[in-house]
Amino acid sequence: MGYIAVAIDGPSGAGKSTIARAVAARLGYVYVDTGAMYRAIGLAVSRRGIDGTDADGIAAVLPSIAVELVYQDGAQHVLLNGEDVSAAIRTSAISRYASQVSAVPAVRQFLLETQRDMARKGDILMDGRDIGTVILPDAPVKIFLTASAETRADRRYRELREKGQDVQYEDVLHDVVERDRQDMTRATAPLRQAADAVLLDTSELTLEQSIEAVLQIIQDKTGETYI
Ligand code: DC
Repeated sequence: MGYIAVAIDGPSGAGKSTIARAVAARLGYVYVDTGAMYRAIGLAVSRRGIDGTDADGIAAVLPSIAVELVYQDGAQHVLLNGEDVSAAIRTSAISRYASQVSAVPAVRQFLLETQRDMARKGDILMDGRDIGTVILPDAPVKIFLTASAETRADRRYRELREKGQDVQYEDVLHDVVERDRQDMTRATAPLRQAADAVLLDTSELTLEQSIEAVLQIIQDKTGETYI
Protein backbone atom coordinates (compact mmCIF):
# COMPACT_ATOMS: atom_id res chain seq x y z
CA MET A 1 0.00 0.00 0.00
CA GLY A 2 1.24 3.45 -0.83
CA TYR A 3 1.39 6.17 1.73
CA ILE A 4 -0.81 9.23 1.67
CA ALA A 5 0.86 12.55 0.91
CA VAL A 6 -0.84 15.87 1.51
CA ALA A 7 0.88 18.78 -0.26
CA ILE A 8 0.26 22.26 1.10
CA ASP A 9 1.73 25.21 -0.76
CA GLY A 10 1.27 28.93 -0.42
CA PRO A 11 2.95 32.25 0.33
CA SER A 12 4.71 33.09 3.58
CA GLY A 13 2.55 33.97 6.54
CA ALA A 14 -0.63 32.26 5.29
CA GLY A 15 -0.55 30.13 8.45
CA LYS A 16 0.67 27.06 6.57
CA SER A 17 3.01 25.67 9.20
CA THR A 18 0.69 26.23 12.18
CA ILE A 19 -2.26 24.73 10.32
CA ALA A 20 -0.23 21.91 8.77
CA ARG A 21 1.35 20.96 12.10
CA ALA A 22 -2.07 20.78 13.79
CA VAL A 23 -3.66 18.81 10.95
CA ALA A 24 -0.75 16.35 10.81
CA ALA A 25 -1.07 15.77 14.57
CA ARG A 26 -4.82 15.11 14.19
CA LEU A 27 -4.19 12.62 11.36
CA GLY A 28 -1.09 11.01 12.87
CA TYR A 29 0.96 12.01 9.80
CA VAL A 30 4.54 13.26 9.89
CA TYR A 31 4.68 16.99 9.26
CA VAL A 32 7.47 18.09 6.94
CA ASP A 33 8.27 21.81 6.95
CA THR A 34 10.36 22.23 3.80
CA GLY A 35 10.81 25.97 4.43
CA ALA A 36 12.93 25.03 7.45
CA MET A 37 15.30 23.17 5.12
CA TYR A 38 15.78 26.27 2.91
CA ARG A 39 16.24 28.32 6.06
CA ALA A 40 18.96 25.97 7.29
CA ILE A 41 20.81 26.38 4.00
CA GLY A 42 20.31 30.16 4.24
CA LEU A 43 21.86 30.07 7.71
CA ALA A 44 24.81 27.98 6.52
CA VAL A 45 25.42 30.38 3.63
CA SER A 46 25.19 33.47 5.85
CA ARG A 47 27.59 31.96 8.39
CA ARG A 48 30.12 31.37 5.65
CA GLY A 49 29.85 34.99 4.61
CA ILE A 50 28.58 34.12 1.15
CA ASP A 51 26.09 36.44 -0.55
CA GLY A 52 22.60 34.95 -0.80
CA THR A 53 22.52 35.68 -4.52
CA ASP A 54 25.95 34.19 -5.29
CA ALA A 55 24.66 31.04 -7.03
CA ASP A 56 28.14 29.65 -7.81
CA GLY A 57 29.47 30.33 -4.32
CA ILE A 58 26.41 28.65 -2.80
CA ALA A 59 26.59 25.65 -5.13
CA ALA A 60 30.25 25.23 -4.19
CA VAL A 61 29.52 24.86 -0.45
CA LEU A 62 26.49 22.57 -0.76
CA PRO A 63 28.62 19.40 -0.55
CA SER A 64 29.75 20.48 2.91
CA ILE A 65 26.18 21.09 4.11
CA ALA A 66 23.92 18.42 5.61
CA VAL A 67 20.30 19.27 6.43
CA GLU A 68 18.20 16.81 8.36
CA LEU A 69 14.74 16.88 9.89
CA VAL A 70 14.39 14.84 13.07
CA TYR A 71 11.40 14.38 15.33
CA GLN A 72 11.52 14.56 19.12
CA ASP A 73 8.27 14.10 21.03
CA GLY A 74 6.37 14.86 17.84
CA ALA A 75 8.14 18.18 17.29
CA GLN A 76 10.26 18.78 14.21
CA HIS A 77 13.87 19.83 14.74
CA VAL A 78 16.16 21.02 11.98
CA LEU A 79 19.76 19.88 12.07
CA LEU A 80 22.51 21.65 10.16
CA ASN A 81 25.56 19.39 10.11
CA GLY A 82 24.25 17.83 13.30
CA GLU A 83 23.62 21.13 15.12
CA ASP A 84 20.02 21.90 16.16
CA VAL A 85 19.31 25.23 14.42
CA SER A 86 15.50 25.18 14.88
CA ALA A 87 15.53 28.53 16.71
CA ALA A 88 18.41 30.19 14.83
CA ILE A 89 16.61 29.92 11.46
CA ARG A 90 13.59 31.96 12.61
CA THR A 91 15.00 35.49 12.31
CA SER A 92 14.11 38.10 9.67
CA ALA A 93 17.69 38.06 8.35
CA ILE A 94 17.57 34.30 7.77
CA SER A 95 14.09 34.63 6.18
CA ARG A 96 15.69 36.85 3.55
CA TYR A 97 18.63 34.51 3.07
CA ALA A 98 16.25 31.53 2.76
CA SER A 99 14.26 33.31 0.07
CA GLN A 100 17.44 34.14 -1.85
CA VAL A 101 19.05 30.68 -1.67
CA SER A 102 15.72 29.04 -2.58
CA ALA A 103 16.02 30.70 -6.01
CA VAL A 104 19.29 28.86 -6.70
CA PRO A 105 18.58 25.75 -8.84
CA ALA A 106 21.43 23.77 -7.21
CA VAL A 107 19.83 24.32 -3.80
CA ARG A 108 16.42 23.09 -4.99
CA GLN A 109 18.04 20.07 -6.62
CA PHE A 110 19.96 19.39 -3.42
CA LEU A 111 16.74 19.20 -1.34
CA LEU A 112 14.48 17.51 -3.90
CA GLU A 113 15.47 13.90 -3.28
CA THR A 114 15.52 14.30 0.51
CA GLN A 115 11.98 15.63 0.38
CA ARG A 116 10.71 12.94 -2.00
CA ASP A 117 12.32 10.32 0.18
CA MET A 118 10.35 11.46 3.20
CA ALA A 119 7.12 10.82 1.29
CA ARG A 120 8.24 7.24 0.60
CA LYS A 121 8.60 6.42 4.27
CA GLY A 122 5.12 7.08 5.65
CA ASP A 123 1.98 9.23 5.57
CA ILE A 124 3.09 12.84 5.43
CA LEU A 125 1.82 16.33 5.26
CA MET A 126 4.44 18.46 3.55
CA ASP A 127 4.30 22.22 3.25
CA GLY A 128 6.31 24.57 1.06
CA ARG A 129 6.05 26.42 -2.24
CA ASP A 130 6.50 23.74 -4.90
CA ILE A 131 5.33 20.55 -3.19
CA GLY A 132 2.22 20.05 -5.36
CA THR A 133 3.89 21.29 -8.54
CA VAL A 134 7.43 19.83 -8.41
CA ILE A 135 8.26 17.65 -5.40
CA LEU A 136 5.11 15.50 -5.19
CA PRO A 137 3.17 16.06 -8.42
CA ASP A 138 1.17 12.86 -7.81
CA ALA A 139 0.10 13.72 -4.26
CA PRO A 140 -3.58 12.72 -3.86
CA VAL A 141 -4.34 15.86 -1.84
CA LYS A 142 -3.04 19.30 -2.80
CA ILE A 143 -4.02 22.50 -1.09
CA PHE A 144 -2.99 26.04 -1.99
CA LEU A 145 -3.28 27.99 1.23
CA THR A 146 -3.26 31.75 1.02
CA ALA A 147 -4.43 34.98 2.68
CA SER A 148 -4.20 38.67 1.81
CA ALA A 149 -0.74 40.28 2.20
CA GLU A 150 -2.08 42.54 4.99
CA THR A 151 -3.50 39.60 6.93
CA ARG A 152 -0.25 37.68 6.57
CA ALA A 153 1.88 40.66 7.58
CA ASP A 154 -0.32 41.27 10.60
CA ARG A 155 0.06 37.65 11.73
CA ARG A 156 3.82 37.66 11.23
CA TYR A 157 4.10 40.99 13.06
CA ARG A 158 2.27 39.60 16.13
CA GLU A 159 4.34 36.42 16.02
CA LEU A 160 7.65 38.33 15.98
CA ARG A 161 6.48 40.73 18.69
CA GLU A 162 5.51 37.80 20.89
CA LYS A 163 9.02 36.47 20.46
CA GLY A 164 10.27 39.82 21.75
CA GLN A 165 11.61 41.08 18.40
CA ASP A 166 11.35 44.86 17.99
CA VAL A 167 9.74 45.09 14.53
CA GLN A 168 7.44 47.59 12.82
CA TYR A 169 4.30 46.52 10.94
CA GLU A 170 5.24 48.48 7.79
CA ASP A 171 8.60 46.71 7.63
CA VAL A 172 6.97 43.31 8.06
CA LEU A 173 4.43 44.09 5.32
CA HIS A 174 7.23 45.24 3.05
CA ASP A 175 9.12 41.98 3.73
CA VAL A 176 6.02 39.88 3.01
CA VAL A 177 5.36 41.63 -0.31
CA GLU A 178 9.02 41.42 -1.29
CA ARG A 179 9.28 37.73 -0.44
CA ASP A 180 6.07 37.00 -2.40
CA ARG A 181 7.59 38.76 -5.38
CA GLN A 182 10.84 36.80 -5.10
CA ASP A 183 9.08 33.49 -4.55
CA MET A 184 6.62 33.99 -7.43
CA THR A 185 8.98 35.41 -10.04
CA ARG A 186 12.02 33.15 -9.67
CA ALA A 187 12.85 31.02 -12.69
CA THR A 188 13.13 27.69 -10.87
CA ALA A 189 10.03 26.22 -9.18
CA PRO A 190 8.21 29.52 -8.60
CA LEU A 191 5.36 29.65 -6.12
CA ARG A 192 2.14 28.87 -7.96
CA GLN A 193 -1.03 26.89 -7.46
CA ALA A 194 -0.99 23.40 -9.03
CA ALA A 195 -3.84 22.88 -11.50
CA ASP A 196 -5.33 20.16 -9.27
CA ALA A 197 -4.86 21.98 -5.95
CA VAL A 198 -7.80 23.20 -3.88
CA LEU A 199 -7.57 26.92 -3.09
CA LEU A 200 -8.13 27.88 0.55
CA ASP A 201 -8.06 31.56 1.56
CA THR A 202 -7.72 31.93 5.34
CA SER A 203 -8.00 35.76 5.50
CA GLU A 204 -11.42 35.56 7.14
CA LEU A 205 -10.92 32.28 9.01
CA THR A 206 -9.79 31.63 12.56
CA LEU A 207 -7.04 29.08 13.12
CA GLU A 208 -9.59 26.47 14.20
CA GLN A 209 -11.77 27.13 11.12
CA SER A 210 -8.70 26.84 8.88
CA ILE A 211 -7.76 23.50 10.43
CA GLU A 212 -11.33 22.22 9.96
CA ALA A 213 -11.33 23.42 6.33
CA VAL A 214 -8.09 21.57 5.59
CA LEU A 215 -9.37 18.40 7.27
CA GLN A 216 -12.55 18.68 5.18
CA ILE A 217 -10.53 18.90 1.95
CA ILE A 218 -8.41 15.88 2.93
CA GLN A 219 -11.57 13.99 3.86
CA ASP A 220 -13.23 14.81 0.52
CA LYS A 221 -10.15 13.75 -1.46
CA THR A 222 -9.29 10.54 0.40
CA GLY A 223 -12.76 9.32 1.34
CA GLU A 224 -11.54 8.88 4.94
CA THR A 225 -13.46 10.36 7.86
CA TYR A 226 -11.50 12.77 10.02
CA ILE A 227 -14.06 15.27 11.31
O1 DC B 1 7.96 28.78 4.63
P1 DC B 1 9.18 29.58 5.04
O2 DC B 1 8.90 31.05 5.20
O3 DC B 1 9.87 29.01 6.22
O4 DC B 1 10.19 29.44 3.80
C1 DC B 1 11.44 30.07 3.77
C2 DC B 1 11.83 30.42 2.33
O5 DC B 1 12.09 29.22 1.60
C3 DC B 1 10.77 31.18 1.55
O6 DC B 1 11.30 32.39 1.06
C4 DC B 1 10.40 30.33 0.39
C5 DC B 1 11.41 29.23 0.36
N1 DC B 1 10.80 27.93 0.14
C6 DC B 1 10.81 27.44 -1.14
O7 DC B 1 11.28 28.09 -2.06
N2 DC B 1 10.30 26.19 -1.39
C7 DC B 1 9.76 25.47 -0.41
N3 DC B 1 9.27 24.27 -0.68
C8 DC B 1 9.72 25.98 0.91
C9 DC B 1 10.25 27.22 1.15
